Amino acid sequence: AAVELGNHRHFMHKEIFDQPQAVIDTLQGRITDKEVITEAFGFQAAELFDQIKQVQIVACGTSYHAGLVAKYWLEDIIRLPCQVEVASEYRYRNPVLQDHTLVVSLSQSGETADTLAALQLIKQRAQQLDFKHIASLCICNVAESSLTRESDMTFLTHAGPEIGVASTKAFTTQLVALALLMMVLGKRHKTLSVKREAAIVAGLKKLPGLIQNALTHEAAIQQLANSFADKHNALFLGRGTMYPIALEGALKLKEISYIHAEAYPAGELKHGPLALVDEMIPVVAIAPHDDLLEKLKSNLQEVNARGGQMIVFEDEASNIQSDGSFKVLKTTSNVGRITAPITFNIPLQLLAYHVALIRGTDVDQPRNLAKSVTVE
Ligand code: G6P
Repeated sequence: AAVELGNHRHFMHKEIFDQPQAVIDTLQGRITDKEVITEAFGFQAAELFDQIKQVQIVACGTSYHAGLVAKYWLEDIIRLPCQVEVASEYRYRNPVLQDHTLVVSLSQSGETADTLAALQLIKQRAQQLDFKHIASLCICNVAESSLTRESDMTFLTHAGPEIGVASTKAFTTQLVALALLMMVLGKRHKTLSVKREAAIVAGLKKLPGLIQNALTHEAAIQQLANSFADKHNALFLGRGTMYPIALEGALKLKEISYIHAEAYPAGELKHGPLALVDEMIPVVAIAPHDDLLEKLKSNLQEVNARGGQMIVFEDEASNIQSDGSFKVLKTTSNVGRITAPITFNIPLQLLAYHVALIRGTDVDQPRNLAKSVTVE
């Protein structure tokens, strides 16, 4: 059946508000009270996952950003080496493939030509090299797709059809899927304690509510959007998993409002982007309440000292002071290691959406872009 807009002006807006339900649907049947269910990744999952020693993620666009978040989780939480690469680069640079690699392709559509080619290249190389322990997993939103057909295992994100070209709920559910994958791999490799697993599962159960809460800040974000409408550039800053979220926030803004936006890991500011900062470049920073908060705060002072306009999305506990050049919005409270990047992405989606609305662009069908890039 055709997807209906309901009360929403655009599919993107509807899809942003679909996210709490999309998370519920993606978790459904994949977790118990305290545990992730290994078989959610297929009946061969335990056997295949036991043989792997590293993870290689390939993806494009927004899906690539989900992969970047997963690298932080896999390496930090379960100590599994992980590489993430844009599929169009991976496929042409003659990469070194090692045996015992889990190849994860991430794709909303399952039809992105470069992602498919990267996976095919890996499979072909594995055969030539006679590697016996290469396993492939596709995390996808479309059940019958080219990528799922090429993969040993498929994990479907149950985001529902995504119509807006700019990906929103598919990204959120990819992150949920990657969190579950991280936990299953940690269980198999005995690098995730029962206690930590239970805590992450509890966090994921709270996620729909946390997203709902972030969505309630729409009116305030709409206000903030006014200060972007006449700008030509914007800078997004984050550290840790908020760096890929900053990349995703910048991509959303570029895609639908046509404002040039760049994202930087906040620690890299003084290696270049600080030279750009003046009152014409809004700087968006993401400030979770974590170990890097104090470092981020000093990065923000550097921006402030150069007259930059700061927009900070923070956790209630982060406590950054609003003043003339600092606009601080408390969009999350008490989010954890896994739920933080997912939750902080929500205000960035809304920001891009409202800036695009003010600028009158075609939100669901941005110029020059396609939903699914099936040719190179
Ligand atoms: C296109 C879309 C993006 C998407 C990317 C990868 O560029 O406009 O929204 O992130 O392709 O698509 P996939 O279906 O592989 O996730």
